[in-house]
Amino acid sequence: MIIAIALVCFAVGFLAAIVIAGNPTRSRKDVVGLSDWLQVVRSDVSSNINSNCWKQQLSTRVIPVANEEDAGLLSKEQVETSYSKDSWQGLAYQDFKTAIMARESGLKTFPCIYATMGYRADEHRYVFLKSDNPAEPQNIRLIAPALRAYLSMSQSLGPNTSLVIVCAPSEKEKTVEEYNNSFWDMLRGLRISDPQPWPKDVPESVESEKWTFCYNGEPVFPVMLTPAHMQRWSRHMSVPIIALQPKWVLDRLLSTPEKREAATGKVRKLLKEYDQIDISPDLTSYGQPGTSEARQLCLLDENESASCPYSNFDR
Ligand SMILES: *[C@@H]1O[C@H](CO)[C@@H](O)[C@H](O)[C@H]1NC(C)=O
Ligand SMILES: *[C@@H]1O[C@H](CO)[C@@H](O)[C@H](O)[C@H]1NC(C)=O
Ligand SMILES: *[C@@H]1O[C@H](CO)[C@@H](O)[C@H](O)[C@H]1NC(C)=O
Repeated sequence: MIIAIALVCFAVGFLAAIVIAGNPTRSRKDVVGLSDWLQVVRSDVSSNINSNCWKQQLSTRVIPVANEEDAGLLSKEQVETSYSKDSWQGLAYQDFKTAIMARESGLKTFPCIYATMGYRADEHRYVFLKSDNPAEPQNIRLIAPALRAYLSMSQSLGPNTSLVIVCAPSEKEKTVEEYNNSFWDMLRGLRISDPQPWPKDVPESVESEKWTFCYNGEPVFPVMLTPAHMQRWSRHMSVPIIALQPKWVLDRLLSTPEKREAATGKVRKLLKEYDQIDISPDLTSYGQPGTSEARQLCLLDENESASCPYSNFDR
């Protein structure tokens, strides 16, 4: 039985590796295909052998890493050496890398060029969750210490740093709305587990144009990317991913009107080319009256404005 399980794991992983390796010029469409594939991989595995293959894979193939002080934070090199290429973590990481590097011909430049710079300079830190729903308590218990550790060291990582929170592949297809709910519930869970009071200088009302999510007393900018975004490719990944920057990263990037103009101009131009849909009406400048940063975090896959299920994270 054990051998059978191992064989299935191997075959599944091997096939997935072929899917990726055999597609040097894949477009975002293929990436959409990859998330379907990951889904199949998962449901196949669970229905065929009725045992948690992924867990086994984790325990047998993943070398435990003594890393950023046991908070589960991995550098790209640690991700590459800790997870085999055919594990879901390895596949998800590879897909993320391919999307933001977009080196191969046939791929369009990823619009968030600062994410690409951050990746190249090894300023990202990664944390992998146990399921596709970041709001589950088992995942909050991973994210909270990782985020605390990350924020305390983020200044030392570089000007384009991000924390990349990678969820496991979904077992069945989910909608943007379902991912949206789990994203907001995750923020709520983080807020509940946050030992620090909400900072005095940040409004609590989510609708305020000066609102921004805070953790451990520090403003952060978490963005949700999902397998369900089919038009807004800039928000698409084969597994759900939350990319989070400390707000100081954005503040530096946009510190003068000239810098702001240059940075937003570049990103918006690339967004137009990359996405199959108009730039979201929610992508507004922070602090502009009548807008709220909350609307930018999980964008709709439609040409419409989103809102946030919470009006105040402390109530
Ligand atoms: C990182 O971000 C800063 C702006 O905050 C930018 O000026 C710089 O060129 C970026 N890239 C690298 C590779 O540091
Ligand atoms: C998207 O919405 C804006 C207004 O909110 C509108 O001006 C624009 O034409 C819309 N784009 C498409 C492709 O429907
Ligand atoms: C997320 O949920 C809120 C509240 O239910 C809703 O207003 C918003 O449009 C949703 N966003 C997305 C991207 O589905």
